[in-house]
Amino acid sequence: MKHKIFAANWKMYKNPQATRDFFKKMISFDLKAEMIFFPSALCVEAAIEATKSSNIQIGMQNTYPQNEGAFTGENSSATAKSMGCTSVLVGHSERRSLFHENEILADKVQFVQSIGMKAVFCLGETLEQRETNQTEKVLSHQLETGLSKANSENLMIAYEPVWAIGTGKTASAAQAEAAHQFISQWLEKKNFKKTPLLYGGSVKPENAAELISQPHISGFLVGGASLDPESFKKICSV
Ligand code: 13P
Repeated sequence: MKHKIFAANWKMYKNPQATRDFFKKMISFDLKAEMIFFPSALCVEAAIEATKSSNIQIGMQNTYPQNEGAFTGENSSATAKSMGCTSVLVGHSERRSLFHENEILADKVQFVQSIGMKAVFCLGETLEQRETNQTEKVLSHQLETGLSKANSENLMIAYEPVWAIGTGKTASAAQAEAAHQFISQWLEKKNFKKTPLLYGGSVKPENAAELISQPHISGFLVGGASLDPESFKKICSV
C-alpha cells in the first residue's frame, strides 16, 4: 500500500485563534495519516502549540535562505525549526508570479535541506504553456533550476498546475498522472531517489480518491479545501 502524505497550504488565511480552533477539531478526528500544515508565519506558534501532542507536522510557507541577518520582513526557517517546524514550501506559484522568485529558489531548497528540514519544492505550468504544448519543457526547466543545489534527502515535490490553483478546475487524473510520471522520470535520471510527489490544484473531497489512485501521486498539497476540518478530513481519508 502506498504511503500517503496530506499537506495543507493555508496561504494568508486564519489568525491564531482560528488556527487553534481548527486543530482542536482536526485532532479530535484522530486520523493516522501523515499530515503537514503550512499556516502563515504569524500562526506557526499557535499551530505548533495546538498540535504538540499529535502526529501533525507544521511547516513554513516560505523562508529566506539564511539563518539570520539584516533581511527586514523576511522569515528564517532556522527559527521555525527551533520552534518545532519540520518542512518549508519553496517555489509556490504565488511566490513565483507575485514575488518574482526564480533564481533564489535553488538557494532556498539548499538552505532548507542544509538545516535538516524538508523542502517541498512546488512547480507547475500556466494554462498558456499547457495549451502551447510546453508543459514538459517548463517542468524540466523548473526542476533543473530549482533543484540545481538539492540532494534527494529531505525533499518532496508538489506539482501544481497554475491553471488549477484556486480556480475550481482540477487537472484530470490522467493529466496529473502524466505530469507526475514525467517528473518522476526526471528525478530518477538525476538520481533523486524515493521523492514523494504531491498533487495540488483544486483538490477536494470529490476528486481526491481518483487522483490518489494514480500510481505516481503520493499525496496532496491542498489550498482552499484544507481550511475546513471536515473537508480536509475527507481528503485525508481517501
Ligand atoms: P487550491 O487547493 O485552493 O486550488 O490551492 C492549491 C495550492 O495552491 C496549494 O499550494
